Amino acid sequence: MLLSILLVAGLASAYPQQNGGSGSFGGFGGSGGNPGGNGGNNGGDGGHGGNGGNGGLPWSHPGPGDVRSPCPALNTLANHGLLPHSGKGITTEDILSAFAIGQNFAADTVQGAAVAALALCSNETGTTCTTWDLDMLDKPHAIEHDNSLSREDYNFGKDNNTVFSPEIWGQVLRIWRGSPIIDFKLANAALRERVAVANATDVPGWYVPAVGASLHETAFYLSLFGDPVEGNARQDWIDVWFQEERMPFELGWTATQRSTITEASLDAMVATLQAVA
Ligand code: HEM
Ligand SMILES: *[C@@H]1O[C@H](CO)[C@@H](O)[C@H](O)[C@H]1NC(C)=O
Ligand SMILES: *[C@@H]1O[C@H](CO)[C@@H](O)[C@H](O)[C@H]1NC(C)=O
Ligand SMILES: *[C@@H]1O[C@H](CO)[C@@H](O)[C@H](O)[C@H]1NC(C)=O
Repeated sequence: MLLSILLVAGLASAYPQQNGGSGSFGGFGGSGGNPGGNGGNNGGDGGHGGNGGNGGLPWSHPGPGDVRSPCPALNTLANHGLLPHSGKGITTEDILSAFAIGQNFAADTVQGAAVAALALCSNETGTTCTTWDLDMLDKPHAIEHDNSLSREDYNFGKDNNTVFSPEIWGQVLRIWRGSPIIDFKLANAALRERVAVANATDVPGWYVPAVGASLHETAFYLSLFGDPVEGNARQDWIDVWFQEERMPFELGWTATQRSTITEASLDAMVATLQAVA
């Protein structure tokens, strides 16, 4: 019981601002944190993969019947086979080991979200889930949220909130203007642009700001592709990861060249992001 309370606390801090919103997924009373998520299929571009420069990990697009999520990190791990390539039947143990091996994340950075995914599955299926599928995360305004950097908002089903959107990601790239290094200011500016565009263009009444969750996700990608304290992430690495959902091994990225990413380092980075906004 104590463990589950700690995990929920971790979730609330991982997705701190998922408050309110029609269709929000409850179940974590008191903290205002709503897990949820968004599933889906990575449409993908053809042709990558193979075994050159891939850090020893195979990579392939989702095949027929495979499912993917609105989370680039989860999709990438499934494409590399560190999570089940089908995207189905994922356990908390799978998540902990995939993120530790594949990306050098400490367990406390993902435990809360893994529990949230199980809870969302239980809610959607009406059974007590012990595993879940990536496409269950596509439920809008649950873990999934608006103003994503790389996906459409759900918008009453008008759009597709699961697959990478070149148009949405293009809004981010225009803010970054080809800068090779993404610092805290550029990362914040991209998120502000997405908030403004989503607010202005979503179907009236749909948009629910999700700045807290997005700041945490910003800390994720800055830590993964930069320094867990300083940020300063390589844009080319970030871009490959979002667009193609594979680790940019051939551009020199490795999981272990930097220190381990912890919940404490992520929380500190979110605070810094807020301070320089
Ligand atoms: C069990 C663990 C995880 C779950 C269940 C999960 C779930 C999700 C979901 C549902 C979204 C969609 C939010 C939206 O609507 O934009 C998302 C986005 C995101 N996730 Fe994860 N996530 C997990 C772990 C991670 C980790 C460890 C990272 C580290 C790199 C990460 C990075 C991101 C990023 C950067 C986004 C933002 C995508 C965008 O704005 O376009 N996630 N995640
Ligand atoms: C799922 O969550 C919603 C919103 O909190 C709730 O109304 C519904 O009863 C839940 N369903 C199950 C099967 O738990
Ligand atoms: C989103 O697009 C993908 C790829 O085209 C498709 O497989 C999926 O069913 C779509 N989802 C929705 C909710 O339209
Ligand atoms: C959304 O747009 C309205 C109308 O321009 C504005 O009053 C509001 O502050 C905006 N909200 C956000 C989160 O940008």
